[in-house]
Amino acid sequence: MRLRRHSSFTLPDISNARKRSRAETERTHYEQLNSELSEIGKGRFYHIITHGCQMNVHDTEVIAGLLETMAYQVATGEEDADIIIINTCAIRDSAEAKVFGEIGRLKHLKEQKPNLLIGVAGCMPQEESTVLRILKSYRFVDLVFGTHNIHRLPQLIFDAINRQEMIIEVLSQEGSVVEQLPVVRDDQYKAWVNIIYGCDNFCTYCIVPYTRGKERSRAPEQIIAEVKKLAAAGYQEVTLLGQNVNAYGKDLADKYSFADLLSELHELPIARIRFMTSHPKDFDEELIKVLAKGGNLVPHIHLPLQSGNTEILKRMGRKYTQSMFLELVHKIKQAIPNVVLTTDIIVGFPGETEEQFQDTLKVVREVEFDSAYTFIFSPREGTPAATMIDKTPESEKKDRLYRLIELQTEISRKRNELLDQQVIEVLVEGVSKTNPDILFGRTASNKTVNFKGDDSLIGKLVDLRITEVRTWSLNGDLL
Ligand code: 5AD
Ligand code: SF4
Repeated sequence: MRLRRHSSFTLPDISNARKRSRAETERTHYEQLNSELSEIGKGRFYHIITHGCQMNVHDTEVIAGLLETMAYQVATGEEDADIIIINTCAIRDSAEAKVFGEIGRLKHLKEQKPNLLIGVAGCMPQEESTVLRILKSYRFVDLVFGTHNIHRLPQLIFDAINRQEMIIEVLSQEGSVVEQLPVVRDDQYKAWVNIIYGCDNFCTYCIVPYTRGKERSRAPEQIIAEVKKLAAAGYQEVTLLGQNVNAYGKDLADKYSFADLLSELHELPIARIRFMTSHPKDFDEELIKVLAKGGNLVPHIHLPLQSGNTEILKRMGRKYTQSMFLELVHKIKQAIPNVVLTTDIIVGFPGETEEQFQDTLKVVREVEFDSAYTFIFSPREGTPAATMIDKTPESEKKDRLYRLIELQTEISRKRNELLDQQVIEVLVEGVSKTNPDILFGRTASNKTVNFKGDDSLIGKLVDLRITEVRTWSLNGDLL
């Protein structure tokens, strides 16, 4: 295999990524491709591997949209592909290790098929260390691009084919909000809709504000038009996406909040509106009031706790205390009695003592989340927490994680038992992988229910009586 030179490029720089300019976000529209670019993929196939959060899942839908405007078609698997793009996640070390394993695994395909293009996209290229490692050890990669310039993909592919060198284009700072990007959606009934990009919170453990840039809200009219279009196309459910949806609108010239946006979406003819993720510090009374209207605003809130200890929360830069979190939960439960709360929790933050961890268990017991994503702290280069003194042995952190999971499992089961024999509306999503007679769907609170039914029900809302309760799912009968 020929070794490639690489083009001149600037490495992503974390100190630049930390900067937040005051300039108003520039808004542009995606422009149709010229014929030079729109025919590159003719007779060729693409395959995308996605890691990470819903934001990445949706970015993959945009990458697929862009590839299809270039006339590429979806491949049946990586063996048949002419271009493979790995959309990466940088949130924890384990996610990164997996990606490097995957890139390494693709080397043999490239050897068999020298014209295969391999691209690495998403959050990891925003880190200097990733780009350097690809340059050093994965020279067969053709294309490296980040989160801020996905819309440039057609031109980057053109360059990768024509320049015969590794193309690296990673911007340390975000650019404009690009509207009307082409998108190939994974699902016919549930859709992701971005409302705000980036994050300005800089929680001390988190790499996201560096990889995703400053908070930039999409214009309300663009979001509303997109949801209307989805409703007209038969979509039943929309999930509004942002690292911190509660910050929506803060950067817009005219005063307009997340609660304002939800009020408008509440009036649209679409069955379910979800959103994620919320930051507790920005979850205000106005928002609770709007959510209490119910209707298509589902009673499910993903509210990351991260830690139940006030001192750890302070060192995490979360800007709330244990009692503020508990008070917020109390207010939410009062206003929305059937609410389902889910959360994210990190154990083993640098310096976390057993006593401080006990505070997390206490809050988990008190709130009774329906489920929790639980993680062991993973130091991310360039973030403040990565340099904090951390003496807790890994074995102790694992033990904390197991104890937390054990407690949450018990609570999840108990919460599900409350649903036994209840009649619940479910959006039917598909046929069970293990039994073709069984369908599965999701409740408004996002719980999975399995039931016997005909596949003509897929995409419809049906009422089920819950007949069996499990820890992570429910069984029901069609009414
Ligand atoms: N280590 C462990 N977990 C992390 N998260 C974010 N950064 C880290 C890190 N450095 C978790 C948080 C966040 C979720 C998406 O991932 O809980 O809410
Ligand atoms: Fe990361 Fe905190 Fe922003 Fe969430 S709010 S993306 S945890 S910095």
